[in-house]
Amino acid sequence: MAASGAGLVADEADGEDAVREGSAAGGRALGQRGLRGDTQVWPRAEAVPGASRRVVRQVLRVVELDALPMPPGAGTVFAGRRFLVVDDGCGVALELAGMLERQGAQVRTPRDVDGDCDGLIHLAALRPGAAGVLPQAYDGIRRALDGGLRWLVVASGAGGRFGWRFDGGGIGDPAPGAGLRGLARAVAQEYPEVLVRALDVDTKDTPRAVAQRFMAELLDAEAPVVVGHEGDLRRGISVVPAELHGEPVVPLGPDGVVLLTGGARGATARVALELARTSGCHVEVMGRTPEPAGEPAFPDVPDEAGLRRALVAKGQSGEIEATIRRILADREIRRNLEALREHAASVRYHAGDVRSPHVVREIVGRVQARRGRLDGVVHGAGLAEDRLVRDKTPESFERVYRTKVDGACALAQAVRPDIGFFVVLGGIAGVHAGRGQSDRAAAADACGTLAHAWRTRLRGRVLVAHFGPWARGPKWATGDAGLIEPDAGAAALLREIAHGDEAQVVFTGAAR
Ligand SMILES: NC(=O)c1ccc[n+]([C@@H]2O[C@H](COP(=O)([O-])OP(=O)(O)OC[C@H]3O[C@@H](n4cnc5c(N)ncnc54)[C@H](OP(=O)(O)O)[C@@H]3O)[C@@H](O)[C@H]2O)c1
Repeated sequence: MAASGAGLVADEADGEDAVREGSAAGGRALGQRGLRGDTQVWPRAEAVPGASRRVVRQVLRVVELDALPMPPGAGTVFAGRRFLVVDDGCGVALELAGMLERQGAQVRTPRDVDGDCDGLIHLAALRPGAAGVLPQAYDGIRRALDGGLRWLVVASGAGGRFGWRFDGGGIGDPAPGAGLRGLARAVAQEYPEVLVRALDVDTKDTPRAVAQRFMAELLDAEAPVVVGHEGDLRRGISVVPAELHGEPVVPLGPDGVVLLTGGARGATARVALELARTSGCHVEVMGRTPEPAGEPAFPDVPDEAGLRRALVAKGQSGEIEATIRRILADREIRRNLEALREHAASVRYHAGDVRSPHVVREIVGRVQARRGRLDGVVHGAGLAEDRLVRDKTPESFERVYRTKVDGACALAQAVRPDIGFFVVLGGIAGVHAGRGQSDRAAAADACGTLAHAWRTRLRGRVLVAHFGPWARGPKWATGDAGLIEPDAGAAALLREIAHGDEAQVVFTGAAR
């Protein structure tokens, strides 16, 4: 990681405040307390009911599962049931079709989901050279669920260890099946009557051996949703507590440069502030909203209801809600950029859509050209459009998924391999799913999986941080006691970047 002298001298008062020397802010007293006043964007920790200052850190581990008995050669288990086996093109679908038929099923092996069925086995990610099957595969899976599905198995071919050992070679590439585990977990929660399995297999096994594993899983209703098979070994994923010690300070000085997508708003803005506060680095933030310019609209009207009244009084009739959203976004960006300027060596805002690889390349190139370096990236851009699968359109799923996953992939490609840290803010849904969060679950899970592929190119710290909800406005502050207090969340992330080495880490509030 490119590091330089931090230039920070801790104030002995309580260790939280700091005085910066020789930086752009020039000897001003800085720190959290200095911020708490007009420019405070986030609620004070003590003002948020249920928020926890203690953040629980958990890591993911592969665990051994009991082997399953060999499936019987023939029988009537699936008598009269209709199965669709989306073809892998390599013989697994054909083998599996034969086995299902010998159990009484009627089986078809199309290239995509093309009608109602009782059982759907989705093998598209096993095709040689396949690109990521999500988000496209969501539509067919949703339609099948709508039609009254009873069995759903989605396959990935990342070697039976979920791609965690991927070394960059062609075999066991986690990319084609990325996100399917997250989607499967969410579907399992929303459709408890359906047997749901996300099966990771080793494509070096014979098609017959792989098909047998699918049959065995279909016949075991009790197994966990996520299972991997490598040879005779059967595995699952477990989430276990693991503490990490060390100062929450990324080794970065005032000449360091960090790019944060989504960094002008929401949780990522809080991370940006903490990075700036502890290092005084240059901060480059990116969002779709154009950079606010000119005088703020209705500066004396503090809230949404007041803005609605003011706009109606002004004679605006159409698009009032969109205008209010724009004004509020504009205010949040102004406040956050102002707060950042208190601490950062410089702050620059880039308007652009992170889903576009071209735009991302252009912005990364611009930053590198101007500053001569880019030390870290935090990809915090994300959308929340929660809805149950039965109500979630493919367009919405795609929007949420691509913002997180395509954005992350574009950034991972655009940065230089020697970047100090590359961080994606995933979500707890990526590990535990959550009703109504199939898109976020799939996207965060995909990033967690792809982190192992990014690690083959990027030499610095690669991390997907799955956060539980942070305490703040009504959107997230659901009142449950597992909320993360924002200062604590940002500090946990910085500590993880500086001292951790896991590809995926889960952070929750203490009560969860
Ligand atoms: N807040 C939480 O409790 C929480 C918990 C777990 C994980 N997370 C994760 O943390 C991140 C921030 O969450 P948040 O709740 O703070 O979200 P937020 O307030 O809605 O902010 C999202 C940010 O992403 C930007 N963005 C969205 N789509 C974009 C695109 N296509 N291109 C560029 N920028 C885009 C938005 O800016 P524009 O609107 O200007 O584009 C905004 O700055 C998300 O990735 C979320 O999944 C948050």
